[in-house]
Amino acid sequence: MGNHFKEKSASPGDKAFIETPVAHATTTGMTGGGFYDANSAPQWKAIEAVLPWLDEAVANLPLSGIGPVTLADFGCSEGRNSIAVMSRSLENLLPLTDRPVQTIHSDLPTNDFSKLFLNLRPGGHPVYQSDRVYSSAVGGSMFDQLLPPASVHLATTFNAIGFLSSRPIKNLPGYILPNGPSTLNDIGYVSEDDKQTFSELAKGDVARFLRARAKELVPGGKLLVQVFGSTDTARTCDGIYDLLNDAVLGFVESGDIPRDTYEAYYQPVYMRQLDELTAAISDDAYGASGLFSLDHSKAYEVAVPFNQKYQSDGDTKQYARNYVNFFRAFTEAVLQNSLPEHPDRVDLVSRIYAHAEELLERSPDRYPFRYAAVAMLLTRKE
Ligand SMILES: C[S@@+](CC[C@H](N)C(=O)[O-])C[C@H]1O[C@@H](n2cnc3c(N)ncnc32)[C@H](O)[C@@H]1O
Repeated sequence: MGNHFKEKSASPGDKAFIETPVAHATTTGMTGGGFYDANSAPQWKAIEAVLPWLDEAVANLPLSGIGPVTLADFGCSEGRNSIAVMSRSLENLLPLTDRPVQTIHSDLPTNDFSKLFLNLRPGGHPVYQSDRVYSSAVGGSMFDQLLPPASVHLATTFNAIGFLSSRPIKNLPGYILPNGPSTLNDIGYVSEDDKQTFSELAKGDVARFLRARAKELVPGGKLLVQVFGSTDTARTCDGIYDLLNDAVLGFVESGDIPRDTYEAYYQPVYMRQLDELTAAISDDAYGASGLFSLDHSKAYEVAVPFNQKYQSDGDTKQYARNYVNFFRAFTEAVLQNSLPEHPDRVDLVSRIYAHAEELLERSPDRYPFRYAAVAMLLTRKE
């Protein structure tokens, strides 16, 4: 570790280092070039657990009328999981209607849409093998209306709405995630006031998302919202963020990262409990009650493929590689943008993740990871 960033340190909370180019977004997206696709098997497991609700939603879509039936997925990333979900919806939908179908994959304009478009045309052919299906992509924040009024029949979002719409505070000095460290490792703090601020923002974000989708959906249209979060016994943040926090602090201690840069750095992501997901449906305070009826909601936990592999083969090195690549895919952009601009910034980021691998290999029991999620299926009221 060298003293790379001493001269160009960020002033505390300096927004120049943390602003993103898109309104109502706090990340530029996942690590691209196929990296997110290659490291998102746990997210697929969390999606798989709500596929029965997706089937139920498709079976009950309002399909009378003319023109295209539209399916839209928000926060699609590079598309592997998003396209798998869309394929499942189409399989159930096409026998139910003669109408053409438009599929829309949406994400931030800074997302790797090149990879998404390639995924939509593997080998030069449409991934959805029906001449009635027309695929497309739209860039924008999911917290804004992105599609024409009353044009969408089914809207979905998976593992995405936990990325907050804004940074409500400049500094989170004691830890790198609003939910705070795990109870296993007493390695930092987030004040109760700050936790409350993020909880309210997270509830308000659901309301923002619901208001935008309410404009786009046809009456009777369905909305499936699923995201990583917390159950009574597990939080998706535990393990991964303790490890990233420890890895970053290693470079603060060595002098590579100034302390005030660390204090201004946090991942603007929130792990909701189920009541924080559904609050906007029932509570008038968030300005979205009355738009949707609630068909189902649940908090649940899924098995994590890289944990299962490690349990069966005991290969700590491979486990560390899989585990770190998994969280690198969704933390790297924010981490990089939080560090002062410097020619060696990309290299430093790689060294932070390499250090995380070393720490995990050395102490795998310090960072147990579990995947918890919350979800709800809604119907747009008439
Ligand atoms: C963890 S990925 C989930 C990808 C895919 N849905 C899945 O489940 O595998 C989260 C996605 O949400 C996107 N995202 C974050 N904030 C967003 C926003 N405000 N509007 C739209 N997409 C956003 C990110 O760019 C990223 O592609």
